[in-house]
Amino acid sequence: MTSRGTTRPAPRGRTAAALSALIMGASLAVAVPGQASAAARVDNPYAGATPYVNPDWSAKAAAEPGGAAVANEPSFVWMDRIAAIGGTPGARGLRAHLDTAVSQGADLFQVVVYNLPGRDCAALASNGELGPTELGRYKSDYIDPIADILADPAYASLRIVTLIEPDSLPNLVTNAGGTAGSTPECATMKANGNYEKGVGYALHTLGAIPNVYNYVDAAHHGWLGWDSNFVPAAAQFKKAATTEGATVSDVHGFIVNTANYSALREPHFKVTDSVNGTTVRQSRWVDWNYYVDELSFAQALRTELVRQGFAADLGMLVDTARNGWGGASRPTGPGLLTSADAYVDGGRTDRRIHAGNWCNQSGAGIGERPTTAPEPGIDAYVWAKPPGESDGSSRPVDNDEGKGFDRMCDPTYTGNGRNGYNLTGALPDSPVAGHWFSAQFRELLRNANPPLGGGNAG
Ligand code: BGC
Repeated sequence: MTSRGTTRPAPRGRTAAALSALIMGASLAVAVPGQASAAARVDNPYAGATPYVNPDWSAKAAAEPGGAAVANEPSFVWMDRIAAIGGTPGARGLRAHLDTAVSQGADLFQVVVYNLPGRDCAALASNGELGPTELGRYKSDYIDPIADILADPAYASLRIVTLIEPDSLPNLVTNAGGTAGSTPECATMKANGNYEKGVGYALHTLGAIPNVYNYVDAAHHGWLGWDSNFVPAAAQFKKAATTEGATVSDVHGFIVNTANYSALREPHFKVTDSVNGTTVRQSRWVDWNYYVDELSFAQALRTELVRQGFAADLGMLVDTARNGWGGASRPTGPGLLTSADAYVDGGRTDRRIHAGNWCNQSGAGIGERPTTAPEPGIDAYVWAKPPGESDGSSRPVDNDEGKGFDRMCDPTYTGNGRNGYNLTGALPDSPVAGHWFSAQFRELLRNANPPLGGGNAG
Protein backbone atom coordinates (compact mmCIF):
# COMPACT_ATOMS: atom_id res chain seq x y z
CA MET A 1 0.00 0.00 0.00
CA THR A 2 2.75 2.40 0.76
CA SER A 3 4.49 4.33 -1.96
CA ARG A 4 7.62 3.03 -0.36
CA GLY A 5 6.41 -0.34 -1.48
CA THR A 6 7.69 -3.23 0.52
CA THR A 7 8.18 -5.15 -2.66
CA ARG A 8 10.71 -2.73 -4.06
CA PRO A 9 13.84 -4.88 -4.17
CA ALA A 10 16.57 -2.26 -4.37
CA PRO A 11 17.94 -1.11 -1.03
CA ARG A 12 18.41 2.55 -0.38
CA GLY A 13 22.11 2.06 -0.97
CA ARG A 14 22.98 5.23 0.83
CA THR A 15 25.17 4.11 3.69
CA ALA A 16 28.89 4.32 3.18
CA ALA A 17 29.11 0.58 3.68
CA ALA A 18 26.40 -0.18 1.17
CA LEU A 19 27.94 2.25 -1.26
CA SER A 20 31.36 0.61 -1.12
CA ALA A 21 29.70 -2.75 -1.55
CA LEU A 22 28.03 -1.46 -4.68
CA ILE A 23 31.28 -0.08 -5.97
CA MET A 24 32.98 -3.39 -5.39
CA GLY A 25 30.08 -5.13 -7.05
CA ALA A 26 29.71 -7.14 -3.88
CA SER A 27 26.60 -8.46 -2.28
CA LEU A 28 24.67 -5.92 -0.27
CA ALA A 29 25.12 -7.85 2.94
CA VAL A 30 28.20 -6.00 4.03
CA ALA A 31 30.89 -7.58 6.14
CA VAL A 32 32.66 -4.86 8.08
CA PRO A 33 35.91 -6.17 9.60
CA GLY A 34 35.39 -6.86 13.28
CA GLN A 35 31.64 -6.56 13.00
CA ALA A 36 28.85 -8.98 12.40
CA SER A 37 27.53 -8.61 8.91
CA ALA A 38 24.96 -5.83 8.66
CA ALA A 39 22.32 -5.92 5.99
CA ALA A 40 21.83 -2.78 3.92
CA ARG A 41 18.88 -0.67 4.93
CA VAL A 42 15.53 -1.71 3.63
CA ASP A 43 12.95 0.72 2.32
CA ASN A 44 10.50 0.25 5.17
CA PRO A 45 12.10 -1.09 8.35
CA TYR A 46 8.69 -2.14 9.65
CA ALA A 47 7.97 -4.43 6.69
CA GLY A 48 7.98 -8.01 7.86
CA ALA A 49 9.55 -7.02 11.17
CA THR A 50 8.87 -8.28 14.69
CA PRO A 51 9.14 -5.23 16.95
CA TYR A 52 10.46 -5.32 20.50
CA VAL A 53 7.88 -5.22 23.31
CA ASN A 54 9.26 -3.23 26.26
CA PRO A 55 8.73 -5.48 29.32
CA ASP A 56 8.97 -2.52 31.71
CA TRP A 57 5.99 -0.80 30.11
CA SER A 58 4.23 -4.08 29.45
CA ALA A 59 4.24 -5.03 33.14
CA LYS A 60 2.66 -1.72 34.12
CA ALA A 61 0.00 -2.02 31.43
CA ALA A 62 -0.77 -5.65 32.29
CA ALA A 63 -1.21 -4.77 35.97
CA GLU A 64 -4.15 -2.47 35.15
CA PRO A 65 -7.69 -3.84 34.73
CA GLY A 66 -8.11 -4.70 31.07
CA GLY A 67 -4.51 -3.74 30.34
CA ALA A 68 -3.67 -7.20 29.04
CA ALA A 69 -5.48 -6.22 25.83
CA VAL A 70 -2.62 -3.91 24.87
CA ALA A 71 0.30 -5.03 27.05
CA ASN A 72 1.93 -6.94 24.22
CA GLU A 73 1.97 -4.01 21.81
CA PRO A 74 5.37 -2.61 20.82
CA SER A 75 6.19 0.92 21.93
CA PHE A 76 9.22 3.18 21.88
CA VAL A 77 11.82 3.20 24.63
CA TRP A 78 12.67 6.77 25.67
CA MET A 79 16.25 7.81 26.38
CA ASP A 80 15.07 10.93 28.17
CA ARG A 81 18.22 11.66 30.15
CA ILE A 82 21.82 10.53 30.35
CA ALA A 83 21.02 8.20 33.25
CA ALA A 84 18.41 6.41 31.12
CA ILE A 85 21.21 4.99 28.98
CA GLY A 86 22.54 3.00 31.91
CA GLY A 87 19.11 2.37 33.42
CA THR A 88 17.04 4.00 36.15
CA PRO A 89 14.86 2.53 38.90
CA GLY A 90 12.01 0.75 37.15
CA ALA A 91 13.45 1.09 33.65
CA ARG A 92 16.28 -0.95 32.23
CA GLY A 93 19.09 0.75 30.31
CA LEU A 94 19.62 0.80 26.57
CA ARG A 95 21.91 -2.22 26.39
CA ALA A 96 19.57 -4.25 28.59
CA HIS A 97 16.64 -3.30 26.35
CA LEU A 98 18.58 -4.36 23.27
CA ASP A 99 19.66 -7.64 24.88
CA THR A 100 16.06 -8.32 25.82
CA ALA A 101 14.99 -7.51 22.26
CA VAL A 102 17.45 -10.06 20.93
CA SER A 103 16.29 -12.68 23.41
CA GLN A 104 12.66 -11.96 22.48
CA GLY A 105 13.54 -12.79 18.90
CA ALA A 106 12.60 -9.26 17.84
CA ASP A 107 14.27 -7.72 14.82
CA LEU A 108 13.06 -4.13 15.20
CA PHE A 109 13.85 -1.79 18.09
CA GLN A 110 12.33 1.67 18.55
CA VAL A 111 14.03 4.36 20.62
CA VAL A 112 13.35 8.04 21.24
CA VAL A 113 16.38 10.33 21.39
CA TYR A 114 15.24 13.15 23.67
CA ASN A 115 17.78 15.15 25.62
CA LEU A 116 18.72 18.29 23.68
CA PRO A 117 20.29 21.24 25.47
CA GLY A 118 17.51 23.56 26.64
CA ARG A 119 14.92 20.88 25.94
CA ASP A 120 11.19 21.62 25.72
CA CYS A 121 11.68 25.36 25.26
CA ALA A 122 7.97 26.23 24.89
CA ALA A 123 6.83 24.22 27.90
CA LEU A 124 8.05 23.19 31.32
CA ALA A 125 6.75 19.66 31.85
CA SER A 126 9.65 18.01 30.00
CA ASN A 127 12.42 20.48 30.56
CA GLY A 128 15.54 18.38 30.56
CA GLU A 129 18.80 18.13 32.39
CA LEU A 130 21.04 20.01 29.93
CA GLY A 131 21.19 23.79 29.94
CA PRO A 132 20.86 25.75 26.66
CA THR A 133 24.63 25.86 26.05
CA GLU A 134 25.49 22.26 26.94
CA LEU A 135 25.88 20.99 23.39
CA GLY A 136 29.26 19.46 24.23
CA ARG A 137 27.77 17.26 26.93
CA TYR A 138 24.89 16.32 24.66
CA LYS A 139 27.39 14.99 22.14
CA SER A 140 29.94 13.34 24.44
CA ASP A 141 27.76 12.10 27.31
CA TYR A 142 24.56 11.32 25.47
CA ILE A 143 24.72 10.77 21.69
CA ASP A 144 28.19 9.17 21.60
CA PRO A 145 27.41 6.57 24.29
CA ILE A 146 24.09 5.76 22.59
CA ALA A 147 25.86 5.39 19.25
CA ASP A 148 28.51 3.10 20.80
CA ILE A 149 25.81 0.81 22.12
CA LEU A 150 23.70 0.80 18.94
CA ALA A 151 26.79 0.01 16.84
CA ASP A 152 27.59 -3.10 18.88
CA PRO A 153 27.72 -6.08 16.48
CA ALA A 154 25.52 -7.97 18.95
CA TYR A 155 22.65 -5.79 17.72
CA ALA A 156 23.43 -5.87 14.01
CA SER A 157 20.44 -8.07 13.33
CA LEU A 158 18.03 -5.46 14.71
CA ARG A 159 16.57 -2.69 12.61
CA ILE A 160 16.87 0.24 14.99
CA VAL A 161 14.35 3.04 14.50
CA THR A 162 15.33 6.28 16.20
CA LEU A 163 12.88 9.12 16.80
CA ILE A 164 14.94 12.27 16.85
CA GLU A 165 14.16 14.95 19.41
CA PRO A 166 10.41 15.54 19.69
CA ASP A 167 9.19 19.16 19.49
CA SER A 168 12.63 20.75 19.10
CA LEU A 169 12.73 21.93 15.48
CA PRO A 170 8.98 22.73 15.38
CA ASN A 171 9.53 24.98 18.39
CA LEU A 172 12.15 26.88 16.40
CA VAL A 173 9.61 27.40 13.61
CA THR A 174 6.65 28.66 15.61
CA ASN A 175 7.73 29.58 19.13
CA ALA A 176 11.04 31.38 18.77
CA GLY A 177 9.89 34.91 18.08
CA GLY A 178 7.19 37.02 16.50
CA THR A 179 4.18 34.91 17.49
CA ALA A 180 1.76 34.83 20.42
CA GLY A 181 3.20 31.50 21.49
CA SER A 182 6.84 32.52 21.49
CA THR A 183 9.01 32.06 24.56
CA PRO A 184 12.40 33.55 25.45
CA GLU A 185 13.73 30.01 25.91
CA CYS A 186 12.91 29.07 22.31
CA ALA A 187 14.36 32.36 21.08
CA THR A 188 17.58 31.46 22.90
CA MET A 189 17.71 28.02 21.27
CA LYS A 190 17.12 29.52 17.86
CA ALA A 191 19.82 32.13 18.39
CA ASN A 192 22.46 29.72 19.72
CA GLY A 193 21.73 27.06 17.09
CA ASN A 194 22.05 24.23 19.59
CA TYR A 195 18.85 22.45 18.61
CA GLU A 196 19.94 22.41 14.98
CA LYS A 197 23.49 21.37 15.86
CA GLY A 198 22.31 18.72 18.30
CA VAL A 199 19.86 17.24 15.79
CA GLY A 200 22.48 17.38 13.02
CA TYR A 201 25.02 15.67 15.24
CA ALA A 202 22.55 12.99 16.28
CA LEU A 203 21.52 12.32 12.67
CA HIS A 204 25.12 12.16 11.43
CA THR A 205 26.41 10.01 14.31
CA LEU A 206 23.50 7.58 14.45
CA GLY A 207 23.05 7.60 10.67
CA ALA A 208 26.57 6.19 10.29
CA ILE A 209 25.36 2.93 11.87
CA PRO A 210 24.11 0.75 9.02
CA ASN A 211 21.11 -0.70 10.81
CA VAL A 212 19.84 2.59 12.25
CA TYR A 213 16.83 4.32 10.66
CA ASN A 214 16.49 7.95 11.74
CA TYR A 215 13.02 9.53 11.83
CA VAL A 216 12.86 13.23 12.69
CA ASP A 217 9.98 14.62 14.72
CA ALA A 218 7.63 16.84 12.70
CA ALA A 219 5.01 17.88 15.30
CA HIS A 220 1.36 17.46 14.20
CA HIS A 221 -1.25 19.13 11.99
CA GLY A 222 -2.50 21.36 14.81
CA TRP A 223 1.00 22.81 15.09
CA LEU A 224 2.43 23.02 11.57
CA GLY A 225 -0.67 22.79 9.37
CA TRP A 226 -0.86 26.47 8.45
CA ASP A 227 0.95 27.76 5.35
CA SER A 228 2.98 30.10 7.48
CA ASN A 229 4.43 27.12 9.35
CA PHE A 230 4.31 24.24 6.87
CA VAL A 231 6.86 25.22 4.24
CA PRO A 232 9.19 26.93 6.77
CA ALA A 233 9.11 23.77 8.90
CA ALA A 234 10.31 21.62 6.02
CA ALA A 235 13.08 24.17 5.42
CA GLN A 236 13.99 24.08 9.11
CA PHE A 237 14.20 20.28 9.01
CA LYS A 238 16.42 20.47 5.95
CA LYS A 239 18.70 22.99 7.64
CA ALA A 240 19.19 20.81 10.72
CA ALA A 241 19.65 17.72 8.57
CA THR A 242 22.52 19.39 6.74
CA THR A 243 24.32 20.63 9.86
CA GLU A 244 27.22 19.12 11.82
CA GLY A 245 28.12 16.67 9.06
CA ALA A 246 24.59 15.34 8.55
CA THR A 247 23.08 15.01 5.09
CA VAL A 248 19.53 14.35 3.99
CA SER A 249 20.60 10.73 3.51
CA ASP A 250 20.85 10.43 7.29
CA VAL A 251 17.08 10.94 7.46
CA HIS A 252 15.03 7.86 6.70
CA GLY A 253 11.76 9.59 7.44
CA PHE A 254 9.69 11.75 9.76
CA ILE A 255 7.14 11.13 12.49
CA VAL A 256 4.03 13.14 13.25
CA ASN A 257 1.84 13.35 16.35
CA THR A 258 4.55 12.19 18.76
CA ALA A 259 2.98 12.08 22.23
CA ASN A 260 0.06 14.11 20.87
CA TYR A 261 -3.66 13.52 20.55
CA SER A 262 -4.54 14.71 17.04
CA ALA A 263 -6.93 12.33 15.32
CA LEU A 264 -5.57 10.13 12.57
CA ARG A 265 -8.67 10.78 10.46
CA GLU A 266 -11.69 12.99 10.94
CA PRO A 267 -14.39 10.89 9.31
CA HIS A 268 -17.25 13.41 9.43
CA PHE A 269 -15.80 16.52 7.81
CA LYS A 270 -13.15 17.48 5.27
CA VAL A 271 -11.12 20.65 5.06
CA THR A 272 -12.77 21.40 1.70
CA ASP A 273 -16.31 21.33 3.16
CA SER A 274 -18.31 24.49 3.60
CA VAL A 275 -21.56 25.32 5.40
CA ASN A 276 -23.90 27.99 4.02
CA GLY A 277 -21.00 29.30 1.96
CA THR A 278 -18.60 29.41 4.89
CA THR A 279 -15.56 27.15 4.67
CA VAL A 280 -14.93 24.92 7.67
CA ARG A 281 -11.49 26.46 7.72
CA GLN A 282 -13.20 29.45 9.29
CA SER A 283 -14.60 27.42 12.16
CA ARG A 284 -13.21 28.05 15.61
CA TRP A 285 -11.78 24.51 15.79
CA VAL A 286 -10.02 24.47 12.40
CA ASP A 287 -9.00 28.12 12.65
CA TRP A 288 -7.77 28.42 9.06
CA ASN A 289 -5.62 25.29 9.24
CA TYR A 290 -5.19 23.46 5.90
CA TYR A 291 -5.41 20.04 7.56
CA VAL A 292 -7.94 18.51 9.89
CA ASP A 293 -6.17 15.26 10.72
CA GLU A 294 -2.80 13.56 10.91
CA LEU A 295 -3.03 11.25 7.92
CA SER A 296 -3.65 14.07 5.45
CA PHE A 297 -1.00 16.19 7.18
CA ALA A 298 1.64 13.44 7.17
CA GLN A 299 1.13 12.67 3.49
CA ALA A 300 1.22 16.32 2.44
CA LEU A 301 4.26 17.05 4.58
CA ARG A 302 6.03 14.10 3.01
CA THR A 303 5.45 15.60 -0.44
CA GLU A 304 6.78 18.97 0.72
CA LEU A 305 9.86 17.42 2.34
CA VAL A 306 10.69 15.56 -0.87
CA ARG A 307 10.17 18.77 -2.82
CA GLN A 308 12.68 20.48 -0.56
CA GLY A 309 15.33 17.81 -1.10
CA PHE A 310 14.69 14.85 1.17
CA ALA A 311 14.79 11.34 -0.31
CA ALA A 312 12.01 10.55 -2.76
CA ASP A 313 11.23 7.36 -0.85
CA LEU A 314 10.96 9.08 2.51
CA GLY A 315 8.66 7.26 4.92
CA MET A 316 6.37 8.72 7.55
CA LEU A 317 5.34 7.38 10.95
CA VAL A 318 2.28 8.45 12.93
CA ASP A 319 2.08 8.09 16.70
CA THR A 320 -1.35 6.57 17.23
CA ALA A 321 -0.90 5.62 20.89
CA ARG A 322 -3.44 8.08 22.24
CA ASN A 323 -5.39 9.58 19.34
CA GLY A 324 -8.29 7.15 19.21
CA TRP A 325 -11.10 9.37 20.61
CA GLY A 326 -13.59 6.54 20.94
CA GLY A 327 -16.06 5.86 23.70
CA ALA A 328 -19.53 7.24 24.31
CA SER A 329 -18.68 10.84 23.30
CA ARG A 330 -17.48 9.92 19.83
CA PRO A 331 -19.79 11.45 17.21
CA THR A 332 -21.29 8.94 14.83
CA GLY A 333 -22.02 11.38 12.02
CA PRO A 334 -21.56 14.96 10.84
CA GLY A 335 -22.61 17.96 12.92
CA LEU A 336 -25.59 20.18 12.13
CA LEU A 337 -25.49 22.31 9.01
CA THR A 338 -26.53 25.44 10.91
CA SER A 339 -23.06 26.97 10.95
CA ALA A 340 -19.46 25.98 10.25
CA ASP A 341 -18.86 25.78 13.99
CA ALA A 342 -21.88 23.58 14.64
CA TYR A 343 -20.93 21.32 11.76
CA VAL A 344 -17.33 20.91 12.84
CA ASP A 345 -17.89 20.77 16.58
CA GLY A 346 -20.76 18.31 16.21
CA GLY A 347 -18.81 15.99 13.94
CA ARG A 348 -15.23 16.11 15.08
CA THR A 349 -13.95 13.04 16.87
CA ASP A 350 -11.04 14.91 18.48
CA ARG A 351 -12.89 16.16 21.58
CA ARG A 352 -10.18 18.46 22.87
CA ILE A 353 -11.13 21.97 23.93
CA HIS A 354 -8.43 23.31 21.59
CA ALA A 355 -6.01 21.54 19.24
CA GLY A 356 -3.12 23.20 21.06
CA ASN A 357 -3.88 21.24 24.24
CA TRP A 358 -1.37 18.46 24.79
CA CYS A 359 -1.21 17.37 28.42
CA ASN A 360 -3.01 14.22 29.67
CA GLN A 361 -6.11 14.97 27.62
CA SER A 362 -9.44 14.13 29.14
CA GLY A 363 -11.58 11.91 26.90
CA ALA A 364 -8.72 10.55 24.80
CA GLY A 365 -8.41 6.89 23.87
CA ILE A 366 -5.88 4.51 22.49
CA GLY A 367 -5.67 4.81 18.72
CA GLU A 368 -4.74 2.44 15.94
CA ARG A 369 -2.60 -0.41 17.10
CA PRO A 370 0.91 -0.42 15.61
CA THR A 371 0.49 -1.29 11.93
CA THR A 372 2.95 -1.61 9.08
CA ALA A 373 2.52 0.28 5.80
CA PRO A 374 -1.13 1.21 6.45
CA GLU A 375 -1.41 3.95 3.81
CA PRO A 376 0.60 5.39 0.90
CA GLY A 377 3.71 7.14 2.18
CA ILE A 378 3.26 5.87 5.74
CA ASP A 379 5.82 3.33 6.95
CA ALA A 380 3.86 2.55 10.10
CA TYR A 381 1.47 3.58 12.80
CA VAL A 382 3.54 3.34 15.95
CA TRP A 383 3.21 3.91 19.68
CA ALA A 384 5.85 6.51 20.40
CA LYS A 385 4.36 7.71 23.70
CA PRO A 386 3.72 4.63 25.78
CA PRO A 387 0.06 4.86 26.88
CA GLY A 388 -0.22 5.44 30.62
CA GLU A 389 2.92 7.55 30.94
CA SER A 390 2.06 11.06 32.05
CA ASP A 391 2.71 14.15 29.95
CA GLY A 392 3.39 16.22 33.05
CA SER A 393 2.25 16.85 36.60
CA SER A 394 -0.91 18.77 37.40
CA ARG A 395 0.83 20.40 40.39
CA PRO A 396 4.50 21.17 41.12
CA VAL A 397 6.34 17.99 42.13
CA ASP A 398 9.97 17.83 43.23
CA ASN A 399 12.03 15.54 41.04
CA ASP A 400 15.61 14.93 39.95
CA GLU A 401 14.80 14.62 36.23
CA GLY A 402 14.81 18.30 35.39
CA LYS A 403 11.02 18.21 34.89
CA GLY A 404 9.19 21.43 35.58
CA PHE A 405 5.56 22.21 36.30
CA ASP A 406 3.66 23.31 33.22
CA ARG A 407 0.24 24.74 33.86
CA MET A 408 -0.98 23.17 30.62
CA CYS A 409 -1.16 20.04 32.80
CA ASP A 410 -3.33 21.82 35.37
CA PRO A 411 -7.07 21.44 34.63
CA THR A 412 -7.82 24.81 36.22
CA TYR A 413 -5.44 26.84 34.03
CA THR A 414 -7.02 29.09 31.42
CA GLY A 415 -4.25 28.75 28.90
CA ASN A 416 -1.76 30.78 26.90
CA GLY A 417 -1.11 31.94 23.35
CA ARG A 418 -0.40 28.42 22.14
CA ASN A 419 -3.87 27.13 23.03
CA GLY A 420 -5.82 30.30 22.37
CA TYR A 421 -6.26 30.97 26.10
CA ASN A 422 -8.58 28.03 26.59
CA LEU A 423 -8.91 25.59 29.45
CA THR A 424 -6.32 22.83 29.20
CA GLY A 425 -8.56 19.75 29.26
CA ALA A 426 -5.89 17.99 31.34
CA LEU A 427 -6.85 15.21 33.73
CA PRO A 428 -6.37 16.08 37.41
CA ASP A 429 -3.86 14.55 39.82
CA SER A 430 -1.25 13.61 37.26
CA PRO A 431 2.36 12.66 38.12
CA VAL A 432 5.59 14.01 36.62
CA ALA A 433 6.13 13.49 32.87
CA GLY A 434 6.99 9.90 32.06
CA HIS A 435 5.68 8.49 35.34
CA TRP A 436 2.84 5.98 35.41
CA PHE A 437 -0.62 7.56 35.46
CA SER A 438 -3.06 4.78 36.16
CA ALA A 439 -6.25 6.85 35.84
CA GLN A 440 -5.20 8.06 32.40
CA PHE A 441 -4.31 4.58 31.25
CA ARG A 442 -7.72 3.29 32.27
CA GLU A 443 -9.44 6.10 30.43
CA LEU A 444 -7.34 5.46 27.33
CA LEU A 445 -8.48 1.83 27.37
CA ARG A 446 -12.12 2.80 27.80
CA ASN A 447 -12.02 5.27 24.93
CA ALA A 448 -9.94 3.20 22.55
CA ASN A 449 -10.79 3.55 18.86
CA PRO A 450 -10.74 1.13 17.17
CA PRO A 451 -12.29 -0.37 20.32
CA LEU A 452 -10.43 -3.08 22.15
CA GLY A 453 -11.96 -6.51 21.99
CA GLY A 454 -12.65 -8.81 24.89
CA GLY A 455 -14.54 -6.75 27.44
CA ASN A 456 -11.43 -5.06 28.71
CA ALA A 457 -12.87 -1.60 28.90
CA GLY A 458 -13.79 -1.80 32.58
C1 BGC B 1 8.85 12.73 29.35
C2 BGC B 1 9.87 11.62 29.37
C3 BGC B 1 9.20 10.27 29.13
C4 BGC B 1 8.38 10.34 27.87
C5 BGC B 1 7.63 9.06 27.62
C6 BGC B 1 8.04 12.68 28.09
O1 BGC B 1 7.01 13.59 28.16
O2 BGC B 1 9.48 13.95 29.49
O3 BGC B 1 10.52 11.60 30.60
O4 BGC B 1 10.17 9.27 29.04
O5 BGC B 1 7.47 11.40 27.91
O6 BGC B 1 6.64 8.86 28.55
